[in-house]
Amino acid sequence: MDQARLHLMLCGGTGCHASGSKSFHEALDAELKNQGLEKEVRVIETGCNGFCALGPVMLVQPEGIFYQQLKADDAAELVESHFLKGRPVQRLMYRDPVSKKTMAHMDEIPFFAHQMIWAMRNKGLIDPESIDEYIARDGYFGMAKALTEMSSEDIIGEIKASGLRGRGGAGFPTGVKWGFAAQAKSDVKYVLCNADEGDPGAFMDRSILEADPHAVLEGMIIAAKAINATQGYIYCRTEYPLAIQRLSLAIEKARDYGLLGEDILGSGFGFDVDIYQGAGAFVCGEETALMRSIEGRRGMPRPRPPFPANKGLWDKPTVLNNVETLANVGQIMLNGGQWYASVGTESSKGTKVFAISGDINNIGLVEVPMGISLRKMIYDIGGGIPNKRKFKAVQLGGPSGGCIPEKYLDTPVDYEEIAKVGAIMGSGGVIVMDEKTCMVDMARFFMDFIQEESCGKCTPCREGTRRILEILEKISEGRGEPGDIETLEELSEVIKSSSLCGLGQTAPNPVLSTLNYFRDEYYAHVYEKRCPAKRCVALLKFTVDPDKCKKCGLCFKACPTGAVQWEKKQPASIDKEKCIQCMACYDACRFDAIE
Ligand SMILES: Cc1cc2nc3c(=O)[nH]c(=O)nc-3n(C[C@H](O)[C@H](O)[C@H](O)COP(=O)(O)O)c2cc1C
Ligand code: SF4
Ligand code: SF4
Ligand code: SF4
Ligand code: FES
Repeated sequence: MDQARLHLMLCGGTGCHASGSKSFHEALDAELKNQGLEKEVRVIETGCNGFCALGPVMLVQPEGIFYQQLKADDAAELVESHFLKGRPVQRLMYRDPVSKKTMAHMDEIPFFAHQMIWAMRNKGLIDPESIDEYIARDGYFGMAKALTEMSSEDIIGEIKASGLRGRGGAGFPTGVKWGFAAQAKSDVKYVLCNADEGDPGAFMDRSILEADPHAVLEGMIIAAKAINATQGYIYCRTEYPLAIQRLSLAIEKARDYGLLGEDILGSGFGFDVDIYQGAGAFVCGEETALMRSIEGRRGMPRPRPPFPANKGLWDKPTVLNNVETLANVGQIMLNGGQWYASVGTESSKGTKVFAISGDINNIGLVEVPMGISLRKMIYDIGGGIPNKRKFKAVQLGGPSGGCIPEKYLDTPVDYEEIAKVGAIMGSGGVIVMDEKTCMVDMARFFMDFIQEESCGKCTPCREGTRRILEILEKISEGRGEPGDIETLEELSEVIKSSSLCGLGQTAPNPVLSTLNYFRDEYYAHVYEKRCPAKRCVALLKFTVDPDKCKKCGLCFKACPTGAVQWEKKQPASIDKEKCIQCMACYDACRFDAIE
């Protein structure tokens, strides 16, 4: 094989594709050829690198120089200046929003510097479509060890020693789950991978599948050996076409290499995997609903017990694990359970991938050691809050998660500590909210999602979430009445305690946690008909406070209807007749002069 002088690791994840990495790739190829460098410089499409908000991104190896927001028009300059003449192009590098410093190397960018990459260890480093590159990074070595040197008990013992807990939300110990399924007596057993990823805004599982599909397959084969299963399914939502394409290719290659199918590596053990495409209903991520869906039935949860470890897919013993959980398994086999358990807290070991979004400078996917503080995640990695605004809360755990206020920012991130302050780890969604967020509106947003997604099987979840949504809508529209807040609390308790599945049991979390920490905001809405964050349109007056107005005219420029009247050196005013309450002026004003 020809040795290339430089490897350009260009992100080919869904996010970067959407922001133009394919057209940049074409332009780059053409320019390399044009300037005679096509043999010396090799372009490799990788999976998601995590910093999708800055896409398309590219890492130049072995130099470790990181480029961002690349456009086809940049290709000629990059090739000539950097790859031909050795002068990296500053203007395409990352500029820290806080220090305003330009940072050339990936390692010095705070977003990457504080991470600990285990589950996503191959992201941005290999071509996900090449099984050889996966193997070159020790891929399938853990599986080889498990299949040829270890018994089922050894494997389960190692997973138990690692302390690995399910990354799909509930955090159930993976080794214990495998142990139950291993003990179940049956000639047919299944291993399933949950790649449904229903949480809005979450994309950690998709990223792993796109960047490192073999890691998930390797984890599944090891799980299969542990419980003695012969068939596996990956349940992946149809909205993830690139993940499905790369997974299909990975399955095909693994079969070609004798790593899937009969008698894997001559060990006498056989296992195969197929992909099942789900239609993307949130409730289908729930384990019993997911299994029904694979059986071709309507995806609705059923009561447990019996647990899937005894009666799962087609009533056979089944292990279901999340993508991220499985991506850790190969490395645990290779390096040992103790290695994995050396990082993390007493109850939560290893690393966790989070999707950080909302009012934060660095939006993207990060993998951090368990036990890191929320403050470190938000400020050191996330770069803090943009526009010099103040932090208000962080919502953890997806649509059924909870809000954590500033006083708990030093909480270490682990399953138990996060639960103590009223949120859940969930699958790893982290939404940061600044002072302009209305907590009633936030609760309404999540409840809207949850009640849409309720499967309707049990009354408290079906009717209760709808009723909560109605009350929240009423409050944010200025029609709140005494007693509403108490009704919200009562309904929440009933739904939590009487719903059949995790969706209903956790649905009231956003309401309860905001009521707990931001109760005064609910009171202001109901009793003073005021939205303190000035988000609920019905409660805004759309008038300008002349004392606060700095006469800058930004509101005038932002208004789409000409409702703002303003002249140089004069305070603005708003014509209510023309105002359509779009909030553009409010968002534009930096001086809080619009009420
Ligand atoms: C409403 C609902 C949706 C869920 N969605 C997902 C999902 O999208 N992905 C996932 O891995 N787990 C999801 N879960 C959790 C699964 O039921 C199950 O616990 C998990 O896949 C087990 O894998 P783990 O032990 O590796 O976490 C969901 C649970 C509920 C109640
Ligand atoms: S709790 Fe909600 S989503 Fe779960 S089974 Fe009941 S109605 Fe369906
Ligand atoms: S809310 Fe919209 S329409 Fe009304 S004054 Fe402001 S910018 Fe103009
Ligand atoms: S943007 Fe604010 S400060 Fe500027 S003119 Fe409008 S109301 Fe006044
Ligand atoms: S898709 Fe390119 S960084 Fe995420």
